[in-house]
Amino acid sequence: MLTIALPKGRIAEDTLKIFEKTFKKPFIFDDRKLILHEGNFKFLLVRSQDVPAYVLHQAADMGVAGLDVLEEQEANLTRLLDLGVGKCKICIGVPKNRKLDFSLPEIKIATKMENITRNYFSSKAISVNIIKLYGSIELAPLVGLADAIVDLVETGSTMEQNGLEIAEVISRSSAHLVCNKNSFISKKEEILALYTSIKEAIC
Ligand code: PRP
Repeated sequence: MLTIALPKGRIAEDTLKIFEKTFKKPFIFDDRKLILHEGNFKFLLVRSQDVPAYVLHQAADMGVAGLDVLEEQEANLTRLLDLGVGKCKICIGVPKNRKLDFSLPEIKIATKMENITRNYFSSKAISVNIIKLYGSIELAPLVGLADAIVDLVETGSTMEQNGLEIAEVISRSSAHLVCNKNSFISKKEEILALYTSIKEAIC
């Protein structure tokens, strides 16, 4: 039996589609249920930022998480496979027609991703004051809370509709299949069999 933590929302849907394609049968969560048993698999539906915790503490053997979440949390997990879904970019966003002045003594950046932001700006030797937010990041520069944001851009609609534009792309993200390091030893055959079938299904 393998337990797999999936992040709620679109990545979960796309990942379940990959499993359906792999095993040629439907994988559907009932209504508000958070656990789905299907054959030798148990799927857990969790918040995307919580996937690494479930896998790290071995409540799940494996998980699917965005590279952005894995990088932000510097999670000590084995990355098995890029699933090629949930593609997005991690970008610096600024109000249109307002150039970000990197020579300011300190730039105020609003973001959910403190570590990624800190690492990026310190690699450029730019001093930043990071304002940690939990959502609706695009609002911050519009009301003077920050000079710019570091956020995920998927379609670009949220930035566009709020008068922001991409100043720089920091990195790209997509959903990755990860596994617990102990599970990778104790359940190696099951995990590698699943890895191989998923890899074939997404090729
Ligand atoms: C994410 C992200 C952006 C938006 C980007 O937010 O933080 O706000 O999606 O998507 P787009 O480029 O397709 O417009 P999410 O929807 O997770 O909501 P949140 O603001 O509550 O974090």
